Amino acid sequence: MPKGAVLRKFLFIIIPAAIAVSVIYAFSDSRSGYLNKNVTTGDVTVFFGTEISGGRAHLWSDKVSGVLYADTDKSIDNGFTKDVSSLRFTGKKANGLFETVVSLPKADDEVSETLPEAIKESGKKYYEMCSTCHAAAEPNRYAKHRWDGILKSMQQHGGISDSDLSVIRRYVILSITN
Ligand code: HEC
Repeated sequence: MPKGAVLRKFLFIIIPAAIAVSVIYAFSDSRSGYLNKNVTTGDVTVFFGTEISGGRAHLWSDKVSGVLYADTDKSIDNGFTKDVSSLRFTGKKANGLFETVVSLPKADDEVSETLPEAIKESGKKYYEMCSTCHAAAEPNRYAKHRWDGILKSMQQHGGISDSDLSVIRRYVILSITN
């Protein structure tokens, strides 16, 4: 390629492309990461630990119950809405669930870059509320399926509110590594 052509290519293609990319980047919603607390937007509550990209939570829902799942395996609920019609479905379907997008017009401080960071914030609540009568158990001490029963009984022992329990439950479930 002659030198002039290389220079023209640089001036008219590469530089404008680089400018366009940086402009798009500057105006796009850069909030990506994991929610470090439950966030309610309109009718929809998205639970902490949910992955956010570009200011949106990508979840799955069954169009009937209003429960939002993080993935197609229904083991961890990741949100809830009273009114299913307020959800936005992308049209994609898998395992009987519909891909759902929830916009989160929320502040940067509600998103942590990594899941361990997000979990750490909510761990404070667990260790505060669950070590008043006995030492708080490490989440890995019990299997996931045992924790729901334990937490329900401890909620009654400790008079813990539903919203605090939902944070504690997610802390425990997301912390389990085995
Ligand atoms: C008001 C006091 C109190 C508070 C607050 C409390 N617990 Fe307990 N916890 C108890 C008592 C009493 C027992 C033993 C009797 C029982 O299992 O019901 C117990 C037992 C446990 C056990 C053993 C259960 C088993 O089956 O071996 C776990 C795990 C536990 N608590 C976790 C928690 C967690 C998590 C929290 C916070 C959500 C919590 N506790 C808050 C009083 C409390």
